[in-house]
Amino acid sequence: MSRIVYVNGRYVPYGEAQIHVEDRGFQFADSVYEVCEVRAGRIIDEPRHLARLERSLNELRIDRPMSDACLRIVLSEVLRRNRVREGLVYLQVTRGIARREFVFPDPPVAPTLVVIARHVPASKGDAAAQQGIGVVTTPENRWQRVDIKTTALLPNVLAKMQAKENDAREAWFIDRDGYVTEGGSSNAWIVTQNGVLVTRPAESGILRGVTRTTLFDLARREGLTIEERPFTIDEAKSAMEAFISSATTLATPVIRIDGAPVGDGKPGPVVASLRKGFHLIAEWRAI
Ligand code: PDD
Repeated sequence: MSRIVYVNGRYVPYGEAQIHVEDRGFQFADSVYEVCEVRAGRIIDEPRHLARLERSLNELRIDRPMSDACLRIVLSEVLRRNRVREGLVYLQVTRGIARREFVFPDPPVAPTLVVIARHVPASKGDAAAQQGIGVVTTPENRWQRVDIKTTALLPNVLAKMQAKENDAREAWFIDRDGYVTEGGSSNAWIVTQNGVLVTRPAESGILRGVTRTTLFDLARREGLTIEERPFTIDEAKSAMEAFISSATTLATPVIRIDGAPVGDGKPGPVVASLRKGFHLIAEWRAI
């Protein structure tokens, strides 16, 4: 079965899909995106992802390509045509195609919309969560609007490459004051020795992760205390547990930071219970 992607109103074979050479996503990363988890033939937390997409588009004054109702149909259709029931669905909106000028096209052009689905077995993420992952640290060098989910991800690419070259799965950015901001493609958390969940406030140099928000709902329901405040690497290393969260990793334990163990160097019970409870509280929509 050939893979199908959606590009600007058409469902086309993967190998034939094309974007114009003067698409502003290509030339300026003038573009935003979302990644949703797909599980058991359902899209997870779609309303929160669509709400964040709306916010990203508004912040950058990019026109929305279509209504949420139509977007949901396209997401479903791409998943259905590719028979993806487990994995992810990626959607990207660029400001559109225009002769290369830094300023927005005038008159405005139609935004570009691309949707791609990919099968990823859930067992893959579960295996990483069983084992725990390593992270490396790297100085924060991104722009100040990381609250917008843009495709301007070069610092993230380089940071995650640095992680890979050091046998780690994620890189944590460290701000000028020595505090962790977030991962290259995930939010960062610790669990203190008193069992308190700590993660950086969403208003201070991070992306407000949808998984993070849903984990807040879950933690409250489980009676866990959450402190939204920055934490340092030293605090993380001496924490009881540390973990990352994202739509693709859910809650995954961090057992090593720059080669040093976190806690006893093994995945801990708090992140295990958050991971287990996540899908009980997340929103599901049938494809
Ligand atoms: N990344 N922070 C950054 C920088 C991210 O890129 C992501 C997600 C998150 C977590 O957000 P969410 O919980 O909504 O997935 C935080 C996606 C998965 C990616 O780029 O592939």
